[in-house]
This record gives sequence, C-alpha cells and structure tokens, in this order.
Amino acid sequence: MAALKIRVNPDPVLREKAKRVTAIDKSIHRLIDNMIETLHTASGVGLAANQVGVPLRVIVIHVPDEEVLALINPEIIEKKGERLVMEGCLSIPGYHAELKRAECVKVKAKNREGKLIRIKAEDLLGQALEHEIDHLNGVLYIDYLDSEDQLQKVEPE
Ligand code: CO
Repeated sequence: MAALKIRVNPDPVLREKAKRVTAIDKSIHRLIDNMIETLHTASGVGLAANQVGVPLRVIVIHVPDEEVLALINPEIIEKKGERLVMEGCLSIPGYHAELKRAECVKVKAKNREGKLIRIKAEDLLGQALEHEIDHLNGVLYIDYLDSEDQLQKVEPE
C-alpha cells in the first residue's frame, strides 16, 4: 500500500464527474487499499478517488471507532431532514464551514467483493457519505456557501 498525493482545489480533476466502475478487479482493490492508506496518513474521515487523481466512482470512509467503509458506485437513494454541520475537506486544507446536510441518508453501493449493499446513516457517517458522493459528481462543500467569507480558518491544534 502507498499513500497517494491528495489533489487540492482548484485542481480540475476535483470538478470531473467520476465514471462508474464496470469491473471490480485487482486495480480497483489496489486503488481502495491506497486510498485507505492515504486517508489514514492524512487523518481524514473520507476520501473520493478523484481526490487522488482517479476519476472513478470509489469512496472510502473511516468514522472514528467504526470499520473502514470502501464503496464502489455509491448512490444516494433517499435523504431526510436537514441539520447544520461543520464541514471540511482534505482538498481544501486549513478551512471549514457550517452548512446544511440531511439528517438521514440511504445509500446503495457495491462493496469491494462486488456485493450490493445498502446503508442507512445519520451523524458523521451520513455527512461523510453525502460529502464523498458529492466529490464523485465534481461538487465541493464550498459550492453550498453563499460567500467565501463563510469559510473559517481551522486553528492548528
Ligand atoms: Co472532501
């Protein structure tokens, strides 16, 4: 496994609509393993393949104390409710902002074995699923802000 370089806004690959994966082969498994390594190296919660320069519909999510999720061709099939969350992105380092996300999302996807799975999620996992699936559509969280003034600098710990 190897950590990959994370592309930073305004890299044009972040604005590409990622393509569906047609065959879950060794190269997809290698991509997933490298994305997980990259996510852990960056201490992030989620990562989409286009953030490492690969415009394919693959995401990985690691919510603290939960198992790592690797999803292929994920799709949001239902969203319910609205809530305010604080959100950041590894491709927009040093900033975060408050925005609205759903209270609950339902997602269908394939796992790394190619099995169709459905996930119902709230809280940080729901937020991460929305955020990473947005990435696959070329959407960044800053697109939801009315103005760049809403971006807040993250204070170094
Ligand atoms: Co992001």
